[in-house]
Amino acid sequence: MRVDFRSDTVTKPTPEMLEAMFNAEVGDDVFVEDPTINSLEQKAARLFGKEAGLFCPSGTQTNQIAINVHTTPGDEVICDKLSHIHVYEGGGIAANSGVSTTLLDGVKGQLKAKQVAESIKEDNVHFPKSTLVSLENTCNKAGGTIYNRFDLQEIHQLCKAEGLALHLDGARIFNALIEADYTANDIGNWFDSISICLSKGLGAPVGSLLVGSIEFIHEARRVRKRFGGGMRQAGYSAAAGIYALDNHIERLVVDHKNAKNIGRAFSALSCVAEVTEVESNIVMVHFATIEIKEKVLDYLTKHNIHALTLTSTSIRLVTHLDISDEQLEYALDTINKVEL
Ligand SMILES: Cc1ncc(COP(=O)(O)O)c(C=O)c1O
Repeated sequence: MRVDFRSDTVTKPTPEMLEAMFNAEVGDDVFVEDPTINSLEQKAARLFGKEAGLFCPSGTQTNQIAINVHTTPGDEVICDKLSHIHVYEGGGIAANSGVSTTLLDGVKGQLKAKQVAESIKEDNVHFPKSTLVSLENTCNKAGGTIYNRFDLQEIHQLCKAEGLALHLDGARIFNALIEADYTANDIGNWFDSISICLSKGLGAPVGSLLVGSIEFIHEARRVRKRFGGGMRQAGYSAAAGIYALDNHIERLVVDHKNAKNIGRAFSALSCVAEVTEVESNIVMVHFATIEIKEKVLDYLTKHNIHALTLTSTSIRLVTHLDISDEQLEYALDTINKVEL
């Protein structure tokens, strides 16, 4: 039995999702004539109480488009040091938008309004203009951590008072929403733009959405074209996204429960130094030495359980739609028997 915990992006479309894709009505999306894409964009926008949406190939592209629309070359974006937009998007902030980055040392990938306030530059020729703050919820590199309502509200109020735009990298926003005491509508109220991924926990084969005001999305559509993301009959992919939003949000609780069980199994092992508290679907396991980490990873791989190396002494496992009860049971049993 093969169990793939490397990422929640490894899922394959379910038969029902494939059926929805197969039956999609399509058209040329660069002419805004694909009815399925139009309907997905409206659905996502409505869900977050926003005016408009834009379907894009990836979460990297929705983030990079948002940064480009919110800023002018020479500006700066303020974000946490673990942010995907900084760490994992190929230096796109500088390359695509000519924007510098002020990295803050948050806790678990999360910022406080006070540290954001202290990093906003005064209007002085020496400094870049601080025009954008970007948050990530859940935060991937911190282990799927979830922002609390208070911090989001405070950062929103600060950005509004200071005239900065606020973007959310919500690649896994639904993982946060099913655990948190705030709603999609709250998120829509607090953020000027939101990037949402369909191809992670929601199980679609491809696609991300950017939502915001009509003016913002109008400009985002131009930038998407400039970045080479104009799509034609991509309604087949959008149909998977609609199916995912309708059917795969509630079930994320199962992924979270599975992740907690895996976290507990690793915590019980004497060879494990620490398991980061599991808040959503990501489990981060830390070891005292590189050798122990390599041995555990080899053991798992030998038993056809696949995890990712996170740092030289830690690994990551992510739960998702394609982990069956039998696979979970096999994985837990195998982890319980780790012997070095
Ligand atoms: C938090 C976060 N943002 C953005 C992305 C980028 O998404 P994509 O792989 O679709 O470009 C990822 C991918 O894992 C992510 O974890």
